Amino acid sequence: MTIAVYGAGYVGLVSAVCFAHLGKRVVCVDVDEARVAALSQGQSPIHEDGLISLLSAQLASGRLSFTTDAIRACSESNIHVIATGTPSLDNGAADLSQVYAVVNILIEHSKAPGIIVLKSTVPIGSADEIASFVNQGLEARQKTHHLSVVSNPEFLREGSAVSDFLTASRIIVGGKPEAVSLLKAVYQPLIDQGSLFLSMSRVSAELSKYASNAMLACKISFINQISQLAQKTKANIDDIREAMSLDERIGPHFLSAGIGYGGSCFPKDVRALVQSSKSLGVDPSLLAAIDAVNEVQKTWGIVEMNRHFNHDLSGLKIGVWGVAFKPGTDDVREASSLSSIKAFLEAGAEIVVYDPIVDCQTLFAKTKGVSVAASSKDVLTAGIDALFIATEWPEFVNFPLSLLIDVSTFDGRNCFDLRAVAEAKLAHYYSVGRPKVVKGVIHEA
Ligand code: UGA
Repeated sequence: MTIAVYGAGYVGLVSAVCFAHLGKRVVCVDVDEARVAALSQGQSPIHEDGLISLLSAQLASGRLSFTTDAIRACSESNIHVIATGTPSLDNGAADLSQVYAVVNILIEHSKAPGIIVLKSTVPIGSADEIASFVNQGLEARQKTHHLSVVSNPEFLREGSAVSDFLTASRIIVGGKPEAVSLLKAVYQPLIDQGSLFLSMSRVSAELSKYASNAMLACKISFINQISQLAQKTKANIDDIREAMSLDERIGPHFLSAGIGYGGSCFPKDVRALVQSSKSLGVDPSLLAAIDAVNEVQKTWGIVEMNRHFNHDLSGLKIGVWGVAFKPGTDDVREASSLSSIKAFLEAGAEIVVYDPIVDCQTLFAKTKGVSVAASSKDVLTAGIDALFIATEWPEFVNFPLSLLIDVSTFDGRNCFDLRAVAEAKLAHYYSVGRPKVVKGVIHEA
């Protein structure tokens, strides 16, 4: 049994390394030559906890290899895992061209029966469409072997993708029973350790993935909308969250108010689900509202700064802590930090930015008005008028409050306990859905 994984992005790469760790022979294919060369040397293009050591170990074991040669990989494998990107088109729908590029290679060059495993997040119904496309393609080329298509959505979180893969709460596979059984055998070591294996139809598997992400995004937008109410009424979102989360039916997870969700998944998947609903004639109003609330939430920083500085940010210097869309990753796709920085610059402010992992020098190389600091402390000593916190990296959460006394702080991720802020007597401290603190006084209702 040889597994070919197409796409060495975070899902493909983590899956390839973890399948090898489970004892399978894996060849991982990517079109990017530099990426393949680096990976073959044990260098990872993404920052992901535990990935480097597992990658080195699996390369050394001889079970894992990387190549740009999709045709060779395809002809030597019987399990074909597609993990290529599915970026958003302008109308919010997912672009499947990279997925179909792989499917076409499989139709043309596969030599033996096998399964095509769709790990990329694809619109509802795509796996069935791809299955028909593959059948017709093989038939037209008078190939006698069959390639069965299964949907196997991924539930990895960036930053903890390796441990999420190896301790998955559930493994979802949609497809025909024989194909599902073949994939189940690959996952057997995880199932033996307690991961639940659910088999279903392809379309149910696809929808399970979208529904899970939309539900999580919905919880975030829900608490963010409540935080807007809390802020207006001088209530405290921390108290509200605690009260809500003690109801077991609600639970505490994904109820942290902040400047909105970002990343490569929630924004894209929610919009794609809205598109799918519209094209299927289903009312998408709840799903569309998740996205709309998130867009409003991303303006929290500029709205609060404008209020504080009497709607004139021109000539001000704003320090920004954190650019990554969340801690533990160097990914800045759809990061809320970027919308805020753009808004501050448009309002005439200058930016001094720092992130512990993101390569800010490269990211902002062409952005006028942005300079990069070497540390969180260097941001504070750069003569800033205000500090904006966009990512809750541990080094910010654990930062001594005594060093923030004189700077007006706008905390977009509620990093600090409000009582501790008051005790430290910060001059001005604003956070999301919580009363402001001025010179040690909490202005609550
Ligand atoms: C998300 C899902 O959590 C994974 O289950 C899924 O597999 C993945 O998308 C995917 O589809 O590939 P990820 O995008 O890595 O994972 O990040 P999350 O940890 O879910 O965070 C997403 C965003 O929500 C971040 O910007 C984070 O700051 C924000 N967030 C999260 C909040 O604003 N509040 C919260 O309470 C939780």
